[in-house]
Amino acid sequence: MKESSILVHAGQSAAQAHRPVNMPVHRASTIIASTLEGYEANERGDNMFKNVCYGALGTQNAFALCDAVNQLEQGAGSMVTSSGLAACTQSVLCFVGAGDHVLMPDSVYGPLRMFCETILPRFGVETTFYDPLVGEGIGLLIKANTRVVYTEAPGSLTFEMQDIPAIVKAAHAKGVVVIMDNTWAGPLYFKPLAHGVDICVEAATKFISGHSDLVLGIITARTHELYKQMRGFCVQMGEIASADDCWLALRGLRTMKVRMEAQQKSALELARWLKERPGVKDVLYPPLESDPGHELWKRDFSGAGALFSIVLEKTPRKAVAAMLDGYEFFGIGASWGGFGSLVELCHPERSAVNRKGTVWNEGNSTIVRFAIGLEDVDDLRRDLENGFTRLNDALGR
Ligand SMILES: Cc1ncc(COP(=O)(O)O)c(C=O)c1O
Repeated sequence: MKESSILVHAGQSAAQAHRPVNMPVHRASTIIASTLEGYEANERGDNMFKNVCYGALGTQNAFALCDAVNQLEQGAGSMVTSSGLAACTQSVLCFVGAGDHVLMPDSVYGPLRMFCETILPRFGVETTFYDPLVGEGIGLLIKANTRVVYTEAPGSLTFEMQDIPAIVKAAHAKGVVVIMDNTWAGPLYFKPLAHGVDICVEAATKFISGHSDLVLGIITARTHELYKQMRGFCVQMGEIASADDCWLALRGLRTMKVRMEAQQKSALELARWLKERPGVKDVLYPPLESDPGHELWKRDFSGAGALFSIVLEKTPRKAVAAMLDGYEFFGIGASWGGFGSLVELCHPERSAVNRKGTVWNEGNSTIVRFAIGLEDVDDLRRDLENGFTRLNDALGR
């Protein structure tokens, strides 16, 4: 089945006659069994991952969403978590114990970096942050106790591309699990598992749900063994998402392709325009031919998330505020992947004060991140242009 059709139909029970187009919301803690044997059989072995038997293991809505995402990811099984961050942290925790070591890219999503710096050490797990551009060189950083190589491409805020196949090859040669945060490209534009990644995590909060109205994570495993291990771990940790959020996410998924196509088209157009604009030092967006990660992006990805950053000369906060506060369409807010455009002042130097790789340690720049929505691209360009006028006025230029 082609991806457009999977998006529209996956997770529907076609066999059922006279059904609503969308599955109803199955809110439940308890599922009543008709017999003792049926009740106990449901909770035996793998059955509890396949059959709806208790709300904390997911109802039909979670199963339908997981089925759809798993098909898109070409995985052995998917599971939902309470947030995208939970998908990131649980995927790491699943594979480590006291005395183990984890490799994290310097450009990783800030809250996951904090988790590695503050929580993992309490359980005796050490993290080394590596240069995201390391490629096959990751092999040299793998120690006897390394259990996880974590990847995210492109990196959060600063958009470094990673050579995923090279990293996978080097990590697998030493028997180390590779996890990837694939939220930016999503299951349509990059297939981590087909590139050998073992565990794919995504914040369904972003493009999958697409409407800025829920927080949800999804983990997908490459093999059945990894799925069993990961799902068993999530069940024990009590990871689940509400039936309502799974329902909304599946509804969002139905239109993900058309949304992402339209959003990436506008994003590229605006990124190209911004790149040429006086006062903009750089635009960090791998689809741009000028981006250092462009060749890797072109080789491995079939599209792009509509999220990029611009780099300005170090700008006083008041002037940045003048630019951001007056936008008509760009809401100032965290997150991305929704239908509306957003803007955020970023501080990569804060979440990565210890960046040891070659990347972001410049204190002489200001970074502003834009999530491009479904508004008319000319309206967005005008909004951005007016923002630069306010910025220049505030700077007395
Ligand atoms: C790349 C990336 N991964 C994970 C997350 C976490 O997602 P959530 O906000 O659902 O916890 C985010 C959130 O911004 C993100 O940008």
